[in-house]
Amino acid sequence: MSPAPAPHDRWVFHQGEFVRAKDVGLGPGTQGLHYGTGVFEGIRSYTAAEGGESLVFKAREHYERLHASCRLLRLDLPYSTGELVDVTRELIVRNQLDRDAYIRPVVYKLALEPGTPFGVRLSGVSTAVTILALPMGDYSKPEGIRCGVSSWRRVPDASLPARAKITGAYANNALAVDEATAAGYDDAIMLNQRGAVAEASTANVFVVRSGHVATPGPDSDILLGLTRAAVMRILADEADITVGERTIPRSELYTADEVFLTGTGCQIVPVVEIDGRRIGDGTPGPITTRVREVYRQAVRGADPRYRHWNTPVGLKSQVTAA
Ligand SMILES: Cc1ncc(COP(=O)(O)O)c(C=O)c1O
Repeated sequence: MSPAPAPHDRWVFHQGEFVRAKDVGLGPGTQGLHYGTGVFEGIRSYTAAEGGESLVFKAREHYERLHASCRLLRLDLPYSTGELVDVTRELIVRNQLDRDAYIRPVVYKLALEPGTPFGVRLSGVSTAVTILALPMGDYSKPEGIRCGVSSWRRVPDASLPARAKITGAYANNALAVDEATAAGYDDAIMLNQRGAVAEASTANVFVVRSGHVATPGPDSDILLGLTRAAVMRILADEADITVGERTIPRSELYTADEVFLTGTGCQIVPVVEIDGRRIGDGTPGPITTRVREVYRQAVRGADPRYRHWNTPVGLKSQVTAA
């Protein structure tokens, strides 16, 4: 493994150029900072099981979701999905990320255009695009986590679109995480305004009962996670497991045989306790364990059924001059 550059020396794609992180300057008037008017993605890349290359997981899908998020906030993203995938490849190579890594694209309102008056708005404001890439291994707890149901409700889609990853919306998630960790839990599960299960702080929720798997649907004020979609595909391919999207009442969390979370960062993590109640026998259940194993193989290109999810990056590739 080559030594990773220090954080301030990492290569970053900023406003159309590859620059060192320390050379990115943002003015105090950055509009996205003031009003939370930005959108982002979280993408993982994994070293391939066979070695020699990195595999970006669902790269195109992440950038397609970024484009959709941008449309909602009238952010002008001047790169196609293919170009963004190419930038990601180059960042991985430039930063010599020959280990598992995380890519964070963020598109945000930058500055008021001439003639635009001061104030909260989406039109008349320029857009900035920044993409970071950093080393990130598996931080989830294989033995499972303890969650608390948050007193903070998930912001409803009718107030702030849940299907977009809007930077400002994450203050809601931060409040929930803060409450949960202050109470000694690992993560929060948030209900929507109707009192049904929405999602965890940065992950989707699945419940298992008598061999049936269910997850809240798109009308439950959730982000439509790409890991969630991958897990639904994996479950559908496992012959004896049915999976459905539906409203999940809070009480089902406590009576489930298994609960697990899915997200790019946490990947697939068993939940073994919620609000002090043991889930199942308090250890990761068989369906969670099975899905987790298939997913772990898939992200490293070791499952031929899911190779189309992997975008390969040859780490020895040449990059254009700095
Ligand atoms: C609020 C929220 N829900 C769910 C997820 C899971 O989505 P994905 O699997 O696409 O990472 C995330 C993470 O991106 C998130 O921030």
